[in-house]
Amino acid sequence: MHDPVMVDEVLASLAIPSGAFMVDGTLGLAGHSLAMLRAAGPGGRLVGFDWDEEMLALAEVRLRAEGFDPVREDLTARVCLIHADYRAIPDRLGDLRPIAILLDLGLSSVHLDDPSRGIAFSTEGPLDMRMDRSRGEPAAALLNRASATEIERILLEFGDERWARRIGQVIVDRRRERPLRTTQDLVDCVMAAVPPAKRDRRLHPATRTFQAVRIAVNRELAGLKDALVAIARCLAPSGRMVVLSYHSGEDRAAKQAFRELEASGFVDLNKKPLTPSEQEIGANPRSRSAKLRAVWRQEATAA
Ligand SMILES: C[S@@+](CC[C@H](N)C(=O)[O-])C[C@H]1O[C@@H](n2cnc3c(N)ncnc32)[C@H](O)[C@@H]1O
Repeated sequence: MHDPVMVDEVLASLAIPSGAFMVDGTLGLAGHSLAMLRAAGPGGRLVGFDWDEEMLALAEVRLRAEGFDPVREDLTARVCLIHADYRAIPDRLGDLRPIAILLDLGLSSVHLDDPSRGIAFSTEGPLDMRMDRSRGEPAAALLNRASATEIERILLEFGDERWARRIGQVIVDRRRERPLRTTQDLVDCVMAAVPPAKRDRRLHPATRTFQAVRIAVNRELAGLKDALVAIARCLAPSGRMVVLSYHSGEDRAAKQAFRELEASGFVDLNKKPLTPSEQEIGANPRSRSAKLRAVWRQEATAA
């Protein structure tokens, strides 16, 4: 399961009118989509994107069980599901103008909890980490070919990893003997690189490395700011877009995108991002790093 994060705050920020045409760019298990559809009432319509075909299939089952009848690739349907990167939203929508757009960035708990994905350091699995397993390079392939300097850059840029240089060097040394294959191989490299006396007691030494490699493998931050600007420009007059982020790089991209949009008639609805309540963090610890930003397209500015 995946508990949708900050649902009340998302709905309040989107201010969904009845009969709304909406886009969920990161469908996942459709938790937010279901809340959005209910808020829009019987006339509401939603297009859901996810780049993970397996996630779309799970969402399809859930939506059907909840009384909706999702259809693939038919933008006129009440609920339309599309297997694509959300960066393709402007292309795929054409002239359609949604009044509400949600992007709940990053990965789903379903990804984290599935050992065959190789995303979590706590369970042994193939070192893959791709969310869309139909394309791209698995983490093992990336780490078995990149130079030590390249690995160091990934760990610094996407993980703020203090031991980036040593971890990069250990990976390159070890793979000469035997290429990395499993999540445990990567954990072993990190443990060999980080001196025991310097380890953070509250954070597993492999946490930042796994996060950084996952972000690199999925190219999660690539072109994100420009994509958010382009997606917001699809909004109908007075439409709103919400971005939920879980990593400082994602939040920075959202902040920069909103600043750019403000120069052309959009309004950033929260100068400081909203964060989950203590109560929500207690019930769903994975929500703790969430940041919610919302932007509103003023009536006069829409094309
Ligand atoms: C945090 S989860 C969304 C959870 C969802 N809001 C829910 O209530 O279940 C993010 C989802 O977006 C998908 N995703 C991440 N990046 C994507 C991208 N660039 N394009 C399309 N889908 C993406 C992931 O596969 C994952 O299913």
